[in-house]
Amino acid sequence: MLDLLVTHATLPDGRTGMSIAVQNGRITEVTAGLHAPAQQTIDAQGLLVSPPFVDAHFHMDATLSYGLPRVNQSGTLLEGIALWGELKPDLTQEALVQRALAYCDWAVGKGLLAIRSHVDICDPRLLAVEALLEVKHQVAPYLDLQLVAFPQDGALRDPLAMDKLKRALDMGVDVVGGIPHFERTMADGALSVKLLCELAAEQGKLVDMHCDESDDPMSRHIETLTYETQRLGLQGRVTGSHLTSMHSMDNYYVSKLLPLMAEAQINVVSNPLINITLQGRGDTYPKRRGMTRVPEMMAHGLTVALGQDCVMDPWYSLGSGDMLEVASMGLHVAQMTSQAAMRQCFDAVTVNPAKILQLDGYGLKAGCWADFVLLQAQDPVEAIRLRATRLQVYKRGKLLAQTPAATASLQLPGRPAQTDWLLRKAE
Ligand code: FE2
Repeated sequence: MLDLLVTHATLPDGRTGMSIAVQNGRITEVTAGLHAPAQQTIDAQGLLVSPPFVDAHFHMDATLSYGLPRVNQSGTLLEGIALWGELKPDLTQEALVQRALAYCDWAVGKGLLAIRSHVDICDPRLLAVEALLEVKHQVAPYLDLQLVAFPQDGALRDPLAMDKLKRALDMGVDVVGGIPHFERTMADGALSVKLLCELAAEQGKLVDMHCDESDDPMSRHIETLTYETQRLGLQGRVTGSHLTSMHSMDNYYVSKLLPLMAEAQINVVSNPLINITLQGRGDTYPKRRGMTRVPEMMAHGLTVALGQDCVMDPWYSLGSGDMLEVASMGLHVAQMTSQAAMRQCFDAVTVNPAKILQLDGYGLKAGCWADFVLLQAQDPVEAIRLRATRLQVYKRGKLLAQTPAATASLQLPGRPAQTDWLLRKAE
């Protein structure tokens, strides 16, 4: 007897009428039309069953702090960093833990079950590191939290940052971070990339740097990150986050850079909601939109994820952990409007970030963990269009969250009594 059987599911790859069999927290079979005795059977009624959403780029130490101690007036990255610096001395571990746990509740309700969060290591108390390690432990039964040691004030610009970063890794932080565009000079930025990649290579860690998060067309830290990845044999283990300067770079230079990034197997995380609001603030018109070259990177075979980055913090005042909102914004800003490109945007909040985080047992295949989301949509494109309701969210075959279907009851002459905004294929 199976623990759980899902029937009549549509999968993100387009297969319909699929059954998913679950035993002991793992998927044992995914096949069309399977009917077998199970403790619990769920009829998906032709709706989409997806592996869970994954956010490859977040700041859980700052989340839900909007307005503390004040609001970002200019809307820029640099005022956000200054504002975070004002807030840091007043942070308490309890407040950090409570805000992070509250955000994880939001995430689970949206079917978001794995998050890579940067954690600022520049506070000598490493308060946020301690807090997020505690949160990682507490949420482990329902959410995979991967932490990046992030030197917010600069790995070299803050003279003690490298020591604090090493302490954070010793305490159990998983990934080496960086912020080369915030160092004092381009040379210091390049040196920080070299030192941080060497540290990661020595310790067998993954790398994920905030890189070239500016409108400066001459910012070249992604070139250095690519070079160091190749030199140190870190292919596939290094992620460049943001890369907004690539929006503004010279096309000839990018035509050289992209193949080098592909050769080094650099992963990319673009954060469309935050990039479109922070970048281009110094422009009049035309106003640059500051999102990196997502479709061009995908065409070069790079693994590209779309991340949330911020929710209600010094840099961004909105958000809810809804990765379909992230995918929708990415789709619009990158003009990824073909059917194939819209499906790539869905992959960019599911399978691609799972690959970047190197998640174990992710996917809808026999042998994978029984982690999945039943969406009120018939395919990935409809899911993005509707920011579809997460009807049920499962982890290891157990129900974590459910939301009633979105419907409006109508009182219109000669029209149906309700609508759910789904375009049914038979209609
Ligand atoms: Fe970030």
